[in-house]
Formats: sequence, C-alpha cells, structure tokens
Amino acid sequence: MGELRFDGRVAIITGAGAGLGRAYALELSRRGAAVVVNDLGGSISGEGSSRAADEVVDEIRSNGGRAIADFGSVTDQNAMNEMAARVVSEFGRIDILVANAGIIRDRTFAKMGAADFEDVVDVHLMGTVRTVRAVWPTMVGQGGGRIIVTTSGSGLFGGFGQSNYAAAKMGIIGFMNVLKVEGAKSSIKVNAIGPMALTRMSADAMPEALAKRSHPNHVAAALVYLASDEGPNGVILNAGGGLYSSSRIVDSVGITVADENISAETVRDRWEEIANTSGERGWKNMSDYSRYLVEKIMSVS
Ligand code: NAI
Repeated sequence: MGELRFDGRVAIITGAGAGLGRAYALELSRRGAAVVVNDLGGSISGEGSSRAADEVVDEIRSNGGRAIADFGSVTDQNAMNEMAARVVSEFGRIDILVANAGIIRDRTFAKMGAADFEDVVDVHLMGTVRTVRAVWPTMVGQGGGRIIVTTSGSGLFGGFGQSNYAAAKMGIIGFMNVLKVEGAKSSIKVNAIGPMALTRMSADAMPEALAKRSHPNHVAAALVYLASDEGPNGVILNAGGGLYSSSRIVDSVGITVADENISAETVRDRWEEIANTSGERGWKNMSDYSRYLVEKIMSVS
C-alpha cells in the first residue's frame, strides 16, 4: 500500500481554472501527472471568459510540474475533440479525465426559464458526455483509463431551487452507471465524486462555520484515490469537510404478487410493506438487477 503516484500519466481536468478543479490539478501534478487545465474562465453562471487556466498552469510549472492550458468550452464538441487530439500529440496519451466544469443558475422551478434549465444541463450533463466522447476512443485504444464525473447532494437528495442542476447531476449518475459496465472490458473505470468545498460556487450557500472546515483539499484526496490504479469502479464517493461516505441507489425488499388483477387499493393498503426500508439492497448493475427481478417474480405463483 505505497504512495499513489501518477508519474508518466496524463490527466485532463475540466473547469480547473478555479475551485475544486484547480485543487485536483495541483494534487495530481504534485503526484507526478502531466495535467491539462481546461477552463473557459466564465462567471459562476457561465457568462464571459478569462485566462484563469493560465494561472493554474503557471502555478504548476513554478512547482516543477508539467501542464498545459485549454480554453475550450465543454459545451462545444469540436473544442473537446481538438483538446483531446492536442493532448495526445503533446503527451502521447490520456489516462485520466475529471469532468468537473460547472455553472449554477438557481431559481425555483416555477420561476425558472427554459434557457436556464437547458444551459445548466448542457454544461454539466452534456459537457460531461462531450468530454468523455472526446477521450473514450483513446482510452479504449490504450486499454485503460480513469474517468471521474461530478455529482452533487443536490441531485442525490434534492436541493431547493436547483431542479436544473439536480437533473443534470443525477443524469450524470445514470451515464456513469452504464459506462462502468461498457468500459470494463477496456479496463476503463468510471466513478463519481460528490464534493463539498468552499469555492465561489458554494460560498453563498454555505454557513460560515462549515465553510471554514470545507477546504477543496479534502475533496482532492478522494479524487486522487478514484483516479488511481487502485480505485474502485462505479461508485459515488462523497467528500467534503473531512467527511467521506459513499452513496448508492438501493431497493426495498417490497412485495411480490402473482395476481394480475391486483387493484390500486391493494397497492395503497400494502404501501408500508412496499416502502419498508429494512433489508434494502443495491445492485452492481442492470444485469444483476434483472436477474434478481426474474428470480423474485418467478418465486410466486
Ligand atoms: P467553480 O465555479 O469554482 O469552478 C467551476 C469551473 O468550471 C470554473 O472555473 C468555470 O470557469 C468552469 N466552467 C464553467 N463552464 C465551463 C465550460 N462550459 N467549459 C469549461 N469550463 C467551464 O465551482 P466548484 O465549486 O469548484 O465546482 C466544481 C464542480 O463541483 C462542479 O461540477 C460543481 O457542480 C461540483 N460541486 C461543487 C460543490 C461545492 O461544494 N463546491 C458541491 C457539489 C458539487
């Protein structure tokens, strides 16, 4: 159980010009990785652009690390493809992708315009999809890779005023759940980080006492583990303020009924049994779940 090192490895981190992405870039570089700092450098809600990525690259280089900046937007498939091609020509490979870029436009659903919903989904969910699409063939060709996508407690549990963001963050979990299966034969592992840290994105939402305890470095430690050779596959690792936990989607034992004439009233009357949380289990993947379903359904007649 030695030190987790990344010498000779190449990592792309989207949204790495600030906040958590910056912390991930610095830590992966400190452990030997060549790092691609992608960031278009916009505002918290996604307007404008800046050279923020350059500053992180300068910081990494001044510490003796290898890094390049990329200013492409995750909303642009061509920009993501060009970034991946440039990384391969510069460094020869792509070992790690951290899909981290994000924006927020919080409002209750009743007041949220369609554009604010769609833009947030476009950056988080489709931005993750585009970046993965850009690196996937290289990882398959290499016979391995590590992808870390970014979820949020807001999606996992429901955050007021964030229906756009939460929908994207749970869509990302569905995406991960399939890639963890499809990538396995190429030794590509796909995991999700559920971070909590004081950044410009969270500054307004976080109580001061919690903010003081919530350094991005806590999250970077979890991220580095997921990016390593020893990391798991298909997990959600929550990290923030020094608390580390793993969320999973579970299923109650429920009831099984063979009678196809079962009534809505029976479902109502047995709701407590259906929803009973004792004995809840998670499933490794859809095949496991399907196997269980067949066995369970066939067990009653
Ligand atoms: P941040 O606002 O400090 O960093 C996000 C970065 O993404 C910014 O530098 C921004 O320029 C970049 N970005 C935005 N749109 C982009 C685009 N189209 N293309 C390329 N880069 C783009 O926010 P923070 O907190 O570091 O967030 C990082 C990730 O962690 C996000 O996905 C966020 O949703 C997630 N997260 C953060 C939490 C927290 O407590 N800070 C809680 C839960 C999730």
